[in-house]
Amino acid sequence: MDEKGSLPPYSAVADVQRPPWRRGRMQHRMRRWRALRFLAIACLAFIAFAQWKQLSASSPPTPPSDADITVHGLSTKRLQEDLATCSKLRQKPQDPAGLGRDKNARYLDGHAPTLIKNATVWVGEPAKDTSPEDARKGKGFSWITADVYLEFGLIKRVESSIAQSSVSSNAIVFNAKGRPLTAGIIDMHSHAGVNSLPELDGNEDTNEVSSDITPYVRSIDGIQPGDHQIQVIKSGGVTTSLVLPGSGNNMGGEAFVIKHAVGRPDGRNETSAVDMLADPDRNWRFMKMACGENPKRVYGKVGEHGPTSRLGESWEFRHAFEQATALVREQNDWCANADAVGVENVKGYLPQEIRWESLGALLRGQVHLNTHCYTIPDLEAFIDHTNEFKFVLRAFHHAHQTYLVPEILKRAYGGDPPASALFADNMWYKAEAYVASEYAGKILYDNGLTPIYVSDNPVLNAQHVVFEAAKAYKYGLPYHAALASVTTAPAERLGFSKRLGKIKPGFDADVVVWDSDPLSVGAAPVQVWIDGTAQFEDPVELSKPAASPIVPDQNLSEIVEEPVLLSDVIFSGISKVLLGDTAQDQTSDSTTRSVVISKGKITCIGPCAAEIRSAGKNTPIIKLQNGYLTDAFTAFGATLGLNDIDAEKTTDNGANINVFSRGEDGLVLDGKKLRVAYQYGVTKAISSPKFTGQATHHGTSVGFLTGAASALDPNAVFASDVAAHYTLTQSAKRADGTPSLSAAIGALRHKLLEAAASNTTITDPYTEPFFLRKVVNGTLPLAITVHSADTIAAVLKLKAAVEAVTDTPIRLVIIGGAESYLLADELAAAGVGVVLAPLQSYAVSWDQQRALTGAPLTNGTAIDRLVDAGVVAAIGLEEDWLVRDLGLLAGIVYRNGGGRLSEREALGLVGGNLYRILGLDGEKKVEGHFVVWEGSPLEIGGRVKGVGGGGGLLVFFEGV
Ligand SMILES: *[C@@H]1O[C@H](CO)[C@@H](O)[C@H](O)[C@H]1NC(C)=O
Ligand SMILES: *[C@@H]1O[C@H](CO)[C@@H](O)[C@H](O)[C@H]1NC(C)=O
Ligand SMILES: *[C@@H]1O[C@H](CO)[C@@H](O)[C@H](O)[C@H]1NC(C)=O
Ligand SMILES: *[C@@H]1O[C@H](CO)[C@@H](O)[C@H](O)[C@H]1NC(C)=O
Repeated sequence: MDEKGSLPPYSAVADVQRPPWRRGRMQHRMRRWRALRFLAIACLAFIAFAQWKQLSASSPPTPPSDADITVHGLSTKRLQEDLATCSKLRQKPQDPAGLGRDKNARYLDGHAPTLIKNATVWVGEPAKDTSPEDARKGKGFSWITADVYLEFGLIKRVESSIAQSSVSSNAIVFNAKGRPLTAGIIDMHSHAGVNSLPELDGNEDTNEVSSDITPYVRSIDGIQPGDHQIQVIKSGGVTTSLVLPGSGNNMGGEAFVIKHAVGRPDGRNETSAVDMLADPDRNWRFMKMACGENPKRVYGKVGEHGPTSRLGESWEFRHAFEQATALVREQNDWCANADAVGVENVKGYLPQEIRWESLGALLRGQVHLNTHCYTIPDLEAFIDHTNEFKFVLRAFHHAHQTYLVPEILKRAYGGDPPASALFADNMWYKAEAYVASEYAGKILYDNGLTPIYVSDNPVLNAQHVVFEAAKAYKYGLPYHAALASVTTAPAERLGFSKRLGKIKPGFDADVVVWDSDPLSVGAAPVQVWIDGTAQFEDPVELSKPAASPIVPDQNLSEIVEEPVLLSDVIFSGISKVLLGDTAQDQTSDSTTRSVVISKGKITCIGPCAAEIRSAGKNTPIIKLQNGYLTDAFTAFGATLGLNDIDAEKTTDNGANINVFSRGEDGLVLDGKKLRVAYQYGVTKAISSPKFTGQATHHGTSVGFLTGAASALDPNAVFASDVAAHYTLTQSAKRADGTPSLSAAIGALRHKLLEAAASNTTITDPYTEPFFLRKVVNGTLPLAITVHSADTIAAVLKLKAAVEAVTDTPIRLVIIGGAESYLLADELAAAGVGVVLAPLQSYAVSWDQQRALTGAPLTNGTAIDRLVDAGVVAAIGLEEDWLVRDLGLLAGIVYRNGGGRLSEREALGLVGGNLYRILGLDGEKKVEGHFVVWEGSPLEIGGRVKGVGGGGGLLVFFEGV
């Protein structure tokens, strides 16, 4: 340890000082003049000494001795360390350099260079000489055809054609065959590694909940390189993530930016969190804070300690900042004094306190802060803190209400307003998320602010974080800004603007070649490089028709106005009709095909010349470019109609742990979620009471119209008691008599056998025993919410056991079904339908651990295997917010199914198949529900233009 070698030179004022070795009794007897003369000599001696010290700086260190004690009895060595710390405290980090590096600091010797030929490249910045105003509007951005050369972990060349002879002879050549190439996706909000999947208590390290204020803890201390989800995330093209502590604490701790390359299989030499650091030199530090609901809920204890309110949270923040400010001041004073009087004259050591060290670094401008805040009061209070304590905030996370208050964000300390790290359309899950808009990204962007799309993995599967950006584009954010929202924008906010997010020489070689435009439905990487090293040895590549990149659709940039209720309207330009069983889905001359709607009903599809002539003069004609006419969608398995805000008891029907109840008895209509559902073409929903929480069921489901104002509206309920629901996921294990899955299976079998055997008269036909009699005589479906293939096997045996007694088949439905594909053949043979919820499981819980996450890691997902086996499958909702996405989810199956399903069959996954599975064919009281779209509902650019809900309930949207 060559400490002396790094000593700063003694300051000039130090020479008034007597060297310590000249202290002695003698000085008391000195006369004044002698004292002065001695002082002058001492000064000279000291200067000589100091110079000798500097000259000898490179000589080997000598071990400390008693002589290295100052006049105040302090260790010189430690004081020198303190002085070195002063210079660290004064450092102002800059974004680390990109261009000019010979090698990426993460590069490991022995990795061959790579030449990617014939890619369609998104550079990430506009053409040269584009003005900032034009660039903001997207001018100058385009996909270009280019070759890309990666060497030493860097992008070395991006040119229209790179001759193989001009690069290293050992270069690996990858032919991109014209496919899209982007920089690696950056997810600025992840808990990968600290909240490993499948979740286990033993691996849960998201929040240090011992205290509300823990700026001193570090996510890196809990990152598990072995978290399989880190690989799954990478398979979605995500190469870099900011791993944040959770949002339970007002001050959650330090965060770290990692790359998703782990250990030898990914080309690294070590399996360690340090090896995953995106910037091994750690130029910037990162921190997470949170405000609002979470901290007061997690910590507040009445009469003992806060915070129990937002008021208390602000005090917790301010109190902590006060401590750190005090420490910073003491340190600054000490350092200034050490400079002024010479470090060996100071009377104490540099004040240091590990508790406030990181927060002090924030106040010193060395930390990029990311704060979870949703609501206007939270945003405003936090901006107030930035100004009171003078620190910079890089981004508000979740930030659902930022779009309402751009001016508050612009008041932030430092003059650089924070970005908003958002979900595209995940909302309503708690009070803070009830006021939110899918147009938030567009509105923020229009106000000169920065939207960034994030996963909050495992809240969303970060594998698909680029889908959030795609939906942001669908909801009005310009195409280039949507791509920026997961590449250049987070790179800039994280301090990696010169290294990540662009395909330019000097940037890190984190590159993705996609099978289709990354903002298209179902886009998947065909290969991912991190620091120039290909990450997948045998990537599965889906068979997809080649598609050129999306041409940005300006029409999407308009916010859809509130719909208008009309009874008569004509849509022209209908290119596809995918309605009911009408065999008209062949593309034909759309210019001549119209849909005429009169009194809310379709009266003609086709040229309809006579109908158009006879329509009233005032009948609006809406001209579509690429119109689609489809059946309306059905939402199944959610809490729609039984809940407004997931986490708010007063807005919810409630849990049904010990009781079996009817969804119809709890119906709440005309709420925000249902209005959104209707406007997105989901006119019907089938919901059952929940068992414990979301995605659990207990009771009978009710089929109802999302557009109904009250349960007494005619046809508001189109099917009472659709199925009898039970839940056999982990939540089935309760202390109340079913402590285990085996007990839960046993209890259900017992009930069914009792129902089969009992011949007593049941006077109340709305009770569980009555419904179970219908289950065992095959007239009411038994819907089991279950993920584990083993539990599904147990349910199939249970079914057989009961049928052996009754000799009547039970109509069994599986909801959830993450592992159902493992028993696809058995399910098909038993005539069991499967409603996948979620469509694409990512093994959040142990009972989903064998879920297939799709290309490039797995060949297809559960839906593909089920379809191949002949199982009737459908898409359910495990959370209500997905109601906007049903068409897109069906689109993913369509796009990624390798031709397994037609467009019509894909749409059946969110419509007809549900009715087939549930045996509701006979209850077609709800015919005449349709949706008119501009563009395909299966694609990102498709938009609802009209919804016909039967009986004159027609909504349409002006525009185009
Ligand atoms: C690039 O790939 C496209 C698509 O496969 C192909 O049509 C084209 O000929 C290729 N260009 C070159 C220069 O190889
Ligand atoms: C990494 O491992 C390779 C192969 O074992 C070796 O050649 C190289 O020197 C190692 N690099 C570092 C930095 O350890
Ligand atoms: C009901 O079942 C019991 C026992 O199997 C039998 O003795 C009785 O006659 C049955 N009653 C009717 C009404 O079928
Ligand atoms: C099935 O059971 C229910 C309830 O006991 C009964 O009302 C219904 O008639 C039965 N249906 C058939 C087909 O057995």
